[in-house]
Amino acid sequence: MNWETLPDYDALSERAATILLDSIREDPKLVLGLPTGNTPLGVYARVVAECSREYHCFRDVTAFNLDEYVGIPRDHPGSYFAFMQRHLFAHVDIDPTRTYIPNGAAPDLKVECERYERLIAAAGGLGLTFLGLGSNGHIAFNEPGTPFDSRTHVVALSESTRKANAAFFLDQPVPTHAITMGIGTILESRQIVLLASGAKKRDAIARLRSGAQGADFPASALWSHPGVSVLVDEAASF
Ligand code: GLP
Repeated sequence: MNWETLPDYDALSERAATILLDSIREDPKLVLGLPTGNTPLGVYARVVAECSREYHCFRDVTAFNLDEYVGIPRDHPGSYFAFMQRHLFAHVDIDPTRTYIPNGAAPDLKVECERYERLIAAAGGLGLTFLGLGSNGHIAFNEPGTPFDSRTHVVALSESTRKANAAFFLDQPVPTHAITMGIGTILESRQIVLLASGAKKRDAIARLRSGAQGADFPASALWSHPGVSVLVDEAASF
């Protein structure tokens, strides 16, 4: 695991955006795994700014989002579909038919999870996946207790996760369930970059850095992967 500590959130976002764009330059047909949440917002803003100067960044890229809420339509402002349009996809030259997000409104969620796995496999697997980190150690929506070999599945969200995401729903209730790539799905990505910023993530980063692996802390599964970079800012470090 390669650890990099950046002075602050701006530097962390800049570094992650550079990794993302350099990887696309190296492999224009890159298959990305992409997160939502507050942490990647700075990365997406920089990528959008850069791609408006160099407008072919995403032409042949494929993107799979990590997760999506269950039970809300994709045009709901709190959906991750809407999030990705708002912050990245609407502003870059990615082919919309190559942007994939689990469909949380699918009539049969199990079938949808299997379909998502097949789509990732058909694209040749994930090449580079960015992850945020929940303060309880969750990656994507894999809450503590999720087996490390899990595939795309439906999860019940923990109270702390629902609370942390409440701002995206204004005064409406946060969904209780989500579809998420499994930890096993994520671990098959050839490269993984985990981002953590701010004092709220300090305990989770300390636990990750300890190297202790256990299902009680999903991000610790990343220690089994040979190609993981962790980017933290000083506020998230100890
Ligand atoms: C949500 C997302 C995760 C994200 C996490 C951390 O639960 N499903 O993918 O990593 O929040 O969010 P933030 O970056 O806002 O701290």
